[in-house]
Amino acid sequence: MERRGFIKKAFRWAGLMLGGSLLAYPAFSFMTFRKTMKRKVVFYPEDQKRSPAFKEGVYLVQEANEIFALSARCTHLGCTLNYDPVSTRFACPCHGSLFSLSGKRISGPARRDLARIPLNKTAGGDLEAVVHLG
Ligand code: FES
Repeated sequence: MERRGFIKKAFRWAGLMLGGSLLAYPAFSFMTFRKTMKRKVVFYPEDQKRSPAFKEGVYLVQEANEIFALSARCTHLGCTLNYDPVSTRFACPCHGSLFSLSGKRISGPARRDLARIPLNKTAGGDLEAVVHLG
């Protein structure tokens, strides 16, 4: 290959790489942005006296000696679950899935257990659940 031909090819490849990066960057940043979106749901000490306590799509549950947070989104199609104090279960109003107080799937079209959300305890005694969106 001649020197001139080699330089032309090198510039062409460099242009393609630069153009491809410029086109791929918006799509890549959109995908990563969606994955990093999260919000905090704070349960103050007075909220923690009730169980389960519901706030902004999260249930805070105290069962035996354990305290944990569950997503209130049904694992079937995402409807918000209601708590039934008589049966002590979470019931989906859309298609009837049932979940235990610990989030285990009991019945219904949903196939997975409820998602557990990590909790952080602050110095003031608040419990923060960090909900990842997307
Ligand atoms: S969305 Fe809950 S059972 Fe379908």
